[in-house]
Amino acid sequence: MTMRILGTGSYVPERIVTNDDLAQIVETSDEWISTRTGIHERRISQGGTSRLAAEAARRALEQSGVKPEELDLILLGTSTPDNCFPSGACEVQGALGAVNAVAYDISAACSGFIFALNTAQAFFQAGIYRTALVIGCDVLSKIVDWEDRSTCVLFGDGAGAVVVRREEGPAFQMVMGSDGGRAASMVCPSRTNDNFLTGRKPEVGYTSMEGQEIFRFAVKKVPECAEELLEKNGVDREEIKYFVLHQANYRIVEAIAKRMKLPIDRFPMNIERYGNTSGATIPILLDELNREGRLNRGDKIVLAGFGAGLTWGASLLEW
Ligand code: ACO
Repeated sequence: MTMRILGTGSYVPERIVTNDDLAQIVETSDEWISTRTGIHERRISQGGTSRLAAEAARRALEQSGVKPEELDLILLGTSTPDNCFPSGACEVQGALGAVNAVAYDISAACSGFIFALNTAQAFFQAGIYRTALVIGCDVLSKIVDWEDRSTCVLFGDGAGAVVVRREEGPAFQMVMGSDGGRAASMVCPSRTNDNFLTGRKPEVGYTSMEGQEIFRFAVKKVPECAEELLEKNGVDREEIKYFVLHQANYRIVEAIAKRMKLPIDRFPMNIERYGNTSGATIPILLDELNREGRLNRGDKIVLAGFGAGLTWGASLLEW
């Protein structure tokens, strides 16, 4: 059984925050941010994760022609849900009226969308579900310290979604991995209280990371993971039209292209407009490629992500 994308959608908040805007808040500059990361501006949400996710989902459903009640499964890859419970996926289900679906979140930071897509694919391959909505959505602005210039300049808010359906055809192999031994390299602590014993209120901390360690990890792991994916599927890298990678830093994408000895134009990017939207970067970029008419039936595409956990994963799609 194979997985076919029937529709894509994305949603970013209207509020644009430029590098110059951030330079009013912390000691930084447009020059530092754009040369180190490729980011020029990002979107910041006034609403929560579930609202953004539902809007992206509506757009994907509209394009696919699939009705909400046809969905069997809703998976939301997010690490910034609005609540401990209910899950964001259940809130999206409620907003859409997808009454026949089972809905839950998948937490894998910036790899969340890939993990969710691969989970849907595994359900298809097992013959369990037929039609799924897979969303990647994060509102990192909730958990970023706006006084910490080493992190606040990197992130933005957004959502992307795909509607996928099981079809007859060869199943693609997938790749996913995690290394909890390196969990401390990127952390946002939360709910770490013993409030019965201490009387402290629940709290959420801020995002912190070892930037250079993450950089090195991404540049090594993503090519390995993409090569493993191609090898498992018996597909040559020249057959791949686009490598749609997690948008964390344009220098990471450039270094990956170089390591894979492939031209940079096979690695589309939009980080300059949105920054790192965590679980949303891949489906937002995929939606833009789709709506710009850059994807044709039969094109093979590799999606690959990496993030806190540490986690990484890749999926092969045939459009
Ligand atoms: N503006 C100006 N100066 C800054 C800023 C800023 N916003 N941030 C840091 N600096 C300073 C530092 O204080 C340091 O100054 P010093 O030399 O006086 O100590 C100097 O700039 C260099 O800092 P570095 O951290 O060495 O800068 P680097 O070139 O490594 O770039 C960056 C930092 C952009 C974070 C890079 O390491 C990176 O992109 N890493 C990957 C991060 C990432 O992708 N994270 C997310 C992945 S997982 C996920 O997406 C959830």
